[in-house]
Amino acid sequence: MTPSILNADFSNLQYEIERIAQVSDFVHLDVMDNIFVPNFTFDFESAHKIINSSALPVDAHLMVANCDVMGPAYAEIGCASVTVHAEATEKISQTLKAIRSTGARSGLAIKPNTSIEQYIDFSDDVDMFLIMTVEPGFGGQSFMEAMLPKIRRTREIIGSRSIWLQVDGGISIDTIERAAEAGADTFVAGSAVFKANDPAVMVTSLRNLAENMAD
Ligand code: DX5
Ligand code: ZN
Repeated sequence: MTPSILNADFSNLQYEIERIAQVSDFVHLDVMDNIFVPNFTFDFESAHKIINSSALPVDAHLMVANCDVMGPAYAEIGCASVTVHAEATEKISQTLKAIRSTGARSGLAIKPNTSIEQYIDFSDDVDMFLIMTVEPGFGGQSFMEAMLPKIRRTREIIGSRSIWLQVDGGISIDTIERAAEAGADTFVAGSAVFKANDPAVMVTSLRNLAENMAD
């Protein structure tokens, strides 16, 4: 489970991350530049501070236009995983390899209207596919059921490779089982976690639902 702090209290992120640290594997950091998506979250300097003070390894999701430069830069400052958007990168293979060369995991994200088929050939450079289940840009949107076939297809493409399959957007106790059943194994949840009375209890509930489905 990888809670997204997009819907957490930005004025006290260190505390917000600590609240879920005991029960989460990573914290998901949504970086938006107001170019690739119509929203802005952190510049590099602010993100660097969050990464340095985080009680959890950071899974950076870069929704930025210049990801061929920023992807490796985020990997170099200590993110455990860096995901770039297939629609933004002009040098997919080179960027994924550069992220990996720092020791970070490389992720390739695809937006709802992008097909996975054209990216199969990059599988050898990918540690994680991220299938967006909302249009990137904002938290609190509804899970797009129409993405379930794409999640299934991606699971089929992964086959016996040890690539993680992440879903991001609208993941909650109402939707996580369907995403897990379709083949997702790594789950980002923002508002479901940080709007819950007890975020840590919610993370555990979500994890249990996903694991029961995967059994
Ligand atoms: C959307 C972000 C998501 C977002 C998820 O562009 O990539 O990570 O925080 O938030 P929820 O879980 O509220 O859909
Ligand atoms: Zn995200």
